[in-house]
Amino acid sequence: MTLDETLEGIAQHIRTLLDQPAASKPLKITDLTPRDGQQCKLATRVTTDDLLPLCEALDKCGFYAVEVWGGASFDVCLRYLNEDPWERLRRIKEVMPNTKLQMLLRGQHILAYRPYSDDIVRKFCERACANGIDVFRIFEATNDFRNIVTATNAVKEFGGEAHVEVNYTVSPVHTLEKWMEYADQLVDIGADWLSLKDATGILMPFDSYRIIRGIKERAGDKLPVLLHDHDMSGASSMCHWMAILAGVDMIDTVLSPLSFGSSHPATETMIAALQGSPFDTGIALKDLEEPTRITKEIRDKYQKYQTGYTGVNTDVLTHKIPGGMISNMVAQLKEAGRMDLMDAALKECPSVERDLGYPPLLTPTSQIVGVQAVLNVLTGERYKLITREVNDYVAGKYGRPPGSVSRELVAKVTGSDTPPDYAIRAGELAEPGDWEKAQEALGPLAKSDEDILLGILYPMQAKDFLSARG
Ligand code: CO
Repeated sequence: MTLDETLEGIAQHIRTLLDQPAASKPLKITDLTPRDGQQCKLATRVTTDDLLPLCEALDKCGFYAVEVWGGASFDVCLRYLNEDPWERLRRIKEVMPNTKLQMLLRGQHILAYRPYSDDIVRKFCERACANGIDVFRIFEATNDFRNIVTATNAVKEFGGEAHVEVNYTVSPVHTLEKWMEYADQLVDIGADWLSLKDATGILMPFDSYRIIRGIKERAGDKLPVLLHDHDMSGASSMCHWMAILAGVDMIDTVLSPLSFGSSHPATETMIAALQGSPFDTGIALKDLEEPTRITKEIRDKYQKYQTGYTGVNTDVLTHKIPGGMISNMVAQLKEAGRMDLMDAALKECPSVERDLGYPPLLTPTSQIVGVQAVLNVLTGERYKLITREVNDYVAGKYGRPPGSVSRELVAKVTGSDTPPDYAIRAGELAEPGDWEKAQEALGPLAKSDEDILLGILYPMQAKDFLSARG
């Protein structure tokens, strides 16, 4: 049984692996530079005009897929760039005829902060496929997989490829057995790939090995396995290497100018490291020169968006808050004129995380915990003010919490001692009639289903954007 494998066992396994011929087990690479990379390092501010030359160059490299959409791209396109995110996708598709385009999808929450009904999730997946997305990375922050089933089925129905994700964290309720239980559930969902994701950057190499080895055993021939691992603690290269030895089929990387720290290991580094080995990716370093040069230009042009929180920061091992959210907390405290409380706010995060039953911290749960922690220190009294999102979380709108929610918090939110009923799936808690409401709110401003979806996901920003477009 690999779960208790000793160091001796691991060494033996590695010897066997390295005896195999070069390129006999080629590792696949998905490059994330145009989405995750620029989101981690440049606050997602790169415009479509500046992304297109990069995408065109990336199309010639032989990646399994390139991530171009999702996460904050909708919000930032509408709020800051005055761009239509759907138009961005169509323009990228035009210059990338040879590579699968990937997006990140928050399950029943699509790209926003509340659950949507199944028909809206289906409609979104249908339009995303029609506009050019091939690969959907689908997750629910709390690992309540009931909330990824509708999206997974819809993606398959409309011809996309579904990658289902389990979010990594370190907590008393997340034991090795728990990860294996999650893997068993994900294998049965009917997806195309299974992804272990550490959005925070706290995975450590031997855990990476043990968990990936266990997941691979469970996935067997049914579906391949990938690792998505941020580098905040600086351990990601080691984690990737151990995952490769454990049999992972694909890793996610970012071109060197936007790599490491809050982002991912460099694409060029990982490809060079594996050259001539059994895991040789077959990607030529020479083909990366052009996209790397363009990425460097982008980094220089958008330098002002690089905050002090994009490098390696081992404090993450304590507070578990990803870099992007730390920048938001800074903004929140600066606005209140209380930057002196930043350390206290970060120290408060693990307590809020515990009170919420240890959700893995990635958008949206990282925002929920971070914002509440800031409020707790600003008001000087824990949960004196409770955000709407914490209320919704406790009510189960973000899925079933992994551990139990603190009784005091439940009492404050619901006024009752009994824990909420998490037997109800978040999709069932969604308000009905979103489509009609958006249609009515936008009136003649909405000229397509895509416009209405903008109105459903980001009502205020969509109305401003569509009014300006005319
Ligand atoms: Co990521």
